[in-house]
Amino acid sequence: APQLPRYTRAEVAQHRTPKDRVWVTYGTDVFDVTEFVELHPGGPDKILLAAGGALEPFWALYAVHSQPHVLELLRDYKVGELSPEDAAAPPPGDTADPFAGDPPRHPALRVNSLKPFNAEPPPELLTQSFLTPNELFFTRNHLPVPAVEPGSYRLRVEGPGGRALSLSLSELRQRFPKHEVTATLQCAGNRRSEMSRVRPVKGLSWDIGAISTARWGGARLRDVLLAAGVRDNTGDGEWHVCFEGLDVDASGTPYGASIPLKRALSAEAEVLLAYEMNGRELPRDHGFPVRVVVPGVVGARSVKWLRSVAVSPSESPSHWQQNDYKGFCPSVDWDSVDFGAAPAIQELPVQSAITEPRPGAAVPAGELTVKGYAWSGGGREVVRVSGAKGGEGKMGWGEREWREMGWGKGDGGKWE
Ligand code: HEM
Ligand code: MTE
Repeated sequence: APQLPRYTRAEVAQHRTPKDRVWVTYGTDVFDVTEFVELHPGGPDKILLAAGGALEPFWALYAVHSQPHVLELLRDYKVGELSPEDAAAPPPGDTADPFAGDPPRHPALRVNSLKPFNAEPPPELLTQSFLTPNELFFTRNHLPVPAVEPGSYRLRVEGPGGRALSLSLSELRQRFPKHEVTATLQCAGNRRSEMSRVRPVKGLSWDIGAISTARWGGARLRDVLLAAGVRDNTGDGEWHVCFEGLDVDASGTPYGASIPLKRALSAEAEVLLAYEMNGRELPRDHGFPVRVVVPGVVGARSVKWLRSVAVSPSESPSHWQQNDYKGFCPSVDWDSVDFGAAPAIQELPVQSAITEPRPGAAVPAGELTVKGYAWSGGGREVVRVSGAKGGEGKMGWGEREWREMGWGKGDGGKWE
């Protein structure tokens, strides 16, 4: 057989559009799949997400590809092989960098900030499945990802009157019944890039993907608090439950946030100390080994890499509770803002967005399938999803979960 040319990964990376030709790698083989893009059963937009790089991270998520006929099809497009140097693993990162210990990430994520890592799934993958695959779940980090040794991990839980518990990971798993809940997390900054088109705003320029859904498993916060001596009638007035993470800034101050004690103790609110995400242990970016999950509430309160839980008459003193994640009326600007006077965001309002087609996309004439998500906020049920002129979307998969969990997706609705 004739010797095929050798290419470096950098050369492959130059082929990302049909105009420059669409190249991908699989193992150490290089393929030019330009002619297949329009024929792809999963759609041309999805195949282009892998253009210029490796197929494996994508195919690992979509098992339809692990069939012999898919590999056979790919073989027809082979144009070369990777250079021997590039077939080997990439060089290790810089160890002086506080973010050098951050975990590897999926290449499909749209990165809004690398250090700290903030990224969202592309819209067309967000509505590919009801539960967002862990690898694609949006990530919102404020600090480097802590490296936690599960064997020596301890969670400190402070109840009233100085009573405290120190729980190992196995104690958390064994002493408390495992509870599972399907819940959506959304960052307060979701869709900020669209707000900026109306009036410039500060902050990460999230598109519509700072929202994701998972099946979380863990101990109920309620059960753990009761074991620490907290009673339903603890204190007069509004008490709070303060959380701290193991991620710290240069001065050693951790990420922190709080929720009202009433929500923490409510059986209905289903607040979790989660150690599982979609049936697997938490990924490092999402809080390994334990995180808080507060359904229906702004993502900022679902503290990751949880190190302490404390019941307190006041909210968390953390910067992120006091001077960030607050809502203001439209007349307030950065000169007149008074963070101390505004309440911290807890529940978020109704949210919905169209994931396909994307703005500006050319679409064929005739009937059109529109995909998107709808979320009710506050853990409430979605009652209806309507199109721009009032036509109602037919709810697709997830209808049952949608009714139960207050989270819906319109898939295939004819919106006129
Ligand atoms: C489906 C090939 C890249 C996502 C398929 C199928 C084939 C195929 C043959 C149909 C399988 C069957 O039903 O038997 C390829 C090839 C690729 C590629 C040759 C690259 C050269 C990708 C990428 C993604 C993707 C990068 C995701 C980002 C999907 C999805 C489906 C699919 C979601 C299922 C469509 C549906 O039924 O909804 N692909 N694929 N593919 N592909 Fe790909
Ligand atoms: N917890 C810690 N310890 N550190 C953080 O930076 N970010 C918060 C929250 N919990 C954060 C955290 C914010 S603002 C959001 S929106 C969610 O985590 C995002 O969770 P995810 O990265 O798993 O999507």
